[in-house]
Amino acid sequence: MGKNRINLSMPSLTDAKIRKKLGIEKIKYELDPKYKDLGKGKKYFILTYGCQGNEADSEVMAGILEEIGYEKAVDEKHADLVLLNTCCIRENAEVRIWGVLGQLKGRKRENPDMLVGICGCMPQEESATKKIIESYDVDIIFGTHNRQNLPKLIYQAYYTKAKVVEVISSQGNILEGSPKIRESKHKAWVNIMYGCDEFCTYCIVPYTRGRERSRAKEDIINEVEELVKEGYVEITLLGQNVNAYGKDLDTNYTFGDLLYDLDKTGIKRIRYTTSHPRDLDLKTMEAMRDCKSVMPHLHLPVQSGDNEVLKRMNRKYTYEIYMEKINKLKELVPGISITTDIIVGFPGETNEQFLNTLKLVKDADFEGAYTFIFSPREGTPAFKMVDNTTEEEKHERLEKLIDEVNKGYKKGNERFLNQEVEVLVDGESKYGKDMMCGYSKHLKLTHFKSADKSLVGKLVKVKITEVKTWFMIGDLVE
Ligand code: SAH
Ligand code: SF4
Ligand code: F3S
Repeated sequence: MGKNRINLSMPSLTDAKIRKKLGIEKIKYELDPKYKDLGKGKKYFILTYGCQGNEADSEVMAGILEEIGYEKAVDEKHADLVLLNTCCIRENAEVRIWGVLGQLKGRKRENPDMLVGICGCMPQEESATKKIIESYDVDIIFGTHNRQNLPKLIYQAYYTKAKVVEVISSQGNILEGSPKIRESKHKAWVNIMYGCDEFCTYCIVPYTRGRERSRAKEDIINEVEELVKEGYVEITLLGQNVNAYGKDLDTNYTFGDLLYDLDKTGIKRIRYTTSHPRDLDLKTMEAMRDCKSVMPHLHLPVQSGDNEVLKRMNRKYTYEIYMEKINKLKELVPGISITTDIIVGFPGETNEQFLNTLKLVKDADFEGAYTFIFSPREGTPAFKMVDNTTEEEKHERLEKLIDEVNKGYKKGNERFLNQEVEVLVDGESKYGKDMMCGYSKHLKLTHFKSADKSLVGKLVKVKITEVKTWFMIGDLVE
């Protein structure tokens, strides 16, 4: 597009691969007073795609924007600044974003003063950033390590009318003290670490999010104590591999220790995501058993049930190790619900290897799973692996897998029939008139009859009267 460009920095795949022991900077967020009223009288809207990490980042960016005077618009049509916080985990995630960018083109024609920004994981890809610059009318392009510079980038885009690009491919930093506008008043995301050092061969995340780096435990505990004071009921600890928490800090303090300490803050419910099977240790399992606030649900992505495929995925565990860990967990936390992520059609996966995955799904008694067809990501080792499975075969495998997984969902709900469960009420339910909904301790979506909006954010007891594959229905127990 024929617009000037300010390139503060561009992404580099080579730099994104670098892992050094030193060089992680802790940044204390500070607003340059020059930007104080930059957004006064203007409205913003953030469209968030991808994982909970992006949702948490959007809350930080909303905080920064409101601090400089922006107000939240009802939707992107009424905004002076639209930010797209993007994901590139699979090709279809990207296809969706290209579509949205296309639609925004038209809107910019109607309102030439509107600013469009794109951030999150997509700009971290060299090829995506190149395409955004060349083919789309986007004013600000910035990466996952640059979000604290948002006021500066908006300022430059406004006053120079140029396209501003700032994407650093580095190990990343740790941002503390930034403002935050949380979406919910009773559930909160709490980042405990950033980045990933696992380098699973199919995955783009280690390149888009930088090195595995843990926040100081004091900063995490303080944040949770504040949340308790503000009346929050549930927190979800976030990281790409939370079980590696602390490994980069050179102390002996681990994720299990953190769970024990957070349990003492008085928060009622603690969840965490995501776990890597290799790093899930006994201390964490014991914390799940001992801490009343840690919920009896674990999302533990397995990806495949075949040892040879697991090896080529660089997952560093086997079918046997995975089963051993979840069996130990079931012994320590009776009734725990376990969910997972599975990829079918990894390059070279044979039908026999796929059947090993199906077997594992049966053996593990998963109560839910996100299932994906392998999607080649440029720059990852699996991108270049020979793949001779046809699309048709991959879809057949996915369907068989989904059938098996759905049995697990249903079975997982059935065990609560005629039982009382504790539900944290999220809001009105779309399931029926005068119904509310929320999640049980085992993370089961539960609908119940009530029109009492004052229940939102409260823990209530619900007696389950009916179960479906995806949710449960019950009556409020007075
Ligand atoms: N850090 C988390 C989640 C990362 S992304 C973890 O390790 O579990 C969420 C899921 O997307 C992964 O668990 C994996 O199942 C899937 N995924 C990642 N890259 C993929 C790819 N290239 N193709 C298909 N699925 C992928
Ligand atoms: Fe990706 Fe593996 Fe890291 Fe998860 S653990 S983010 S799948 S590289
Ligand atoms: Fe997507 Fe980036 Fe999260 S690629 S899944 S938004 S870490």
